[in-house]
Amino acid sequence: MNQPYTPRIDVPTQVRNRRAVEWVAEIAALAKPDRIVWCDGSKAEYDRLCDEMVKSGTLRRLSPAKRPNSYLAWSDPTDVARMEDRTFICSERPEDAGPTNNWVAPKEMRAKLADLFDGCMRGRTMYIVPFSMGPLGSHIAHIGIEVSDSPYVVVNMHIMTRVSTKIWDLLGHDGAFVPCVHSVGAPLAPGQTDVQWPCNKEHKYIVHFPETREIWSFGSGYGGNALLGKKCLALRIASVMGRDQGWLAEHMLILGVTDPSGAKTYVTGAFPSACGKTNFAMLVPPPAFKGWKVTTIGEDIAWIKPGKDGRLYAINPESGLFGVAPGTSERTNPNCMAALRENVIFTNVALTPDGDVWWEGLSKEPPRELIDWRGEHWTPESGRLAAHPNARFTVPAAQLPSIDPDWENPDGVPISAFLFGGRRSNTVPLVLQAFNWTDGVYMAATMGSETTAAATGKVGVVRRDPFAMIPFVGYNMADYFDHWLKLGWSASQRPQIFQVNWFRTNAEGRLVWPGYGENMRVLKWIVDRVRGCAKGIETPLGWVPDFEDLEWSGLGGFSREQYRSATAIRRDEWESELASHDELFRKLKDRLPRQLQLRREMLHLDLKG
Ligand code: OXD
Ligand code: MN
Repeated sequence: MNQPYTPRIDVPTQVRNRRAVEWVAEIAALAKPDRIVWCDGSKAEYDRLCDEMVKSGTLRRLSPAKRPNSYLAWSDPTDVARMEDRTFICSERPEDAGPTNNWVAPKEMRAKLADLFDGCMRGRTMYIVPFSMGPLGSHIAHIGIEVSDSPYVVVNMHIMTRVSTKIWDLLGHDGAFVPCVHSVGAPLAPGQTDVQWPCNKEHKYIVHFPETREIWSFGSGYGGNALLGKKCLALRIASVMGRDQGWLAEHMLILGVTDPSGAKTYVTGAFPSACGKTNFAMLVPPPAFKGWKVTTIGEDIAWIKPGKDGRLYAINPESGLFGVAPGTSERTNPNCMAALRENVIFTNVALTPDGDVWWEGLSKEPPRELIDWRGEHWTPESGRLAAHPNARFTVPAAQLPSIDPDWENPDGVPISAFLFGGRRSNTVPLVLQAFNWTDGVYMAATMGSETTAAATGKVGVVRRDPFAMIPFVGYNMADYFDHWLKLGWSASQRPQIFQVNWFRTNAEGRLVWPGYGENMRVLKWIVDRVRGCAKGIETPLGWVPDFEDLEWSGLGGFSREQYRSATAIRRDEWESELASHDELFRKLKDRLPRQLQLRREMLHLDLKG
């Protein structure tokens, strides 16, 4: 492994950004790849890399008849998800990362990374991927450059971000970009054959330096650990940029609701993992909602900046969907299923004998036989899952039938409501409208969600997940609350804030609310409230719809009693809920905005009656 290294960088003439060139040279000298490729984002590049990966065994080509231009990857069984315990925020001072992040001193982490990255790309190609998060040239967009030794990452970045040589023109001589360094951490010795999914089984690090706005990721080739534009740039680093520059980077879907008169309202929604966020972003209204339409701008991340008119405008910084496959079906999400017909990269789903894919929930009856995500023969009697519970698809967002005509509008779309929703089998009612901005920030800050077996192995434990951002805020969570309070109160037309919960259960443990497309009934109330044309009743927690205030046509048999069990506010439950809010606040006490503490105290007194 100690042969001399002479990098051939061959900078394309279009690349005039001095810092980018120096940085690429530095990384090459450290990681010592065999070859360097400057990516151009073209279809030819995508096809060439996919062909190479089919040859190397990383990808399987799916049946061109069943799933045109689509591929299947199976990862190493140790590299299947984002890893929060291996994710680090290395600010100069620990208090700036705050108690909800893993912190390591930058000097110590840099020494560790220098060690890990030394020679880590030997035997591999280093790809340089220039990308824009958001439409190219949009004033809300930002540029990143990812250097990676994984062709799987490059092709997924093609789908998830806008990879283009035009980035070099936008950057010019001295434009700003976020440097993102990624390695699977699996150098190859001369003559050594590669494995299907290279990664480093011993060391995994996903590291952010918020002050210098850098990302370094080592050891994993999977999803958010490796596609650095997504969670690392668009949330953790962008949240810091937003704090410093007066905007918001949020873990939110964005959708448009058009009513029968043609009036359009845009809302965002923050939901923790496993709360139906993708399905909600692509909701199909029930037949009774004639003339109503829901369109999708984004399903995971929103960047929101104040406009000149005092409203908040949002873009989806991504250009693709990276969704969880299990549970996705014609019944739960027909729009998504239509998007998945072609040009898809599937990861960790099962392979059917006729060269198509399958995952749990796709059909009622499983196929008679499959090759499971570990590459083993599978039958329904095998007694194990055919697809990994976190199996994914990557697909261009433009393929979604529900995509909004303005999804690439460089100025974004004006937001009228922010929705926050966790998975709660009790306590939190179907929908609540906050009295004002501070109250809404309190709702979002104290949001909790029950764990599912897929995520943690434990079911029903409430995890506080403020703004659905606990794994994604790149700085102190209490400062993030403060930023929200200040930004909202400084906007002259601030959106209304709502809390939703689709997951209340009855005494038998069954879900009370039908969910999916029926969520339109709640969405309609929200949109009507924003426009001042729906009634609501006041509770200590906020405004709620009475039974009569929701549209029920077409949902025969949903009784007042069922409605009550989806919406009841019980004092005993709220007493323990507030105690749990207090636990979170104690953790954040050093910098917690006083308004939130006061709101908690008021709630406590109001609920006591
Ligand atoms: C995701 C997540 O993968 O939020 O989008 O976990
Ligand atoms: Mn997400």
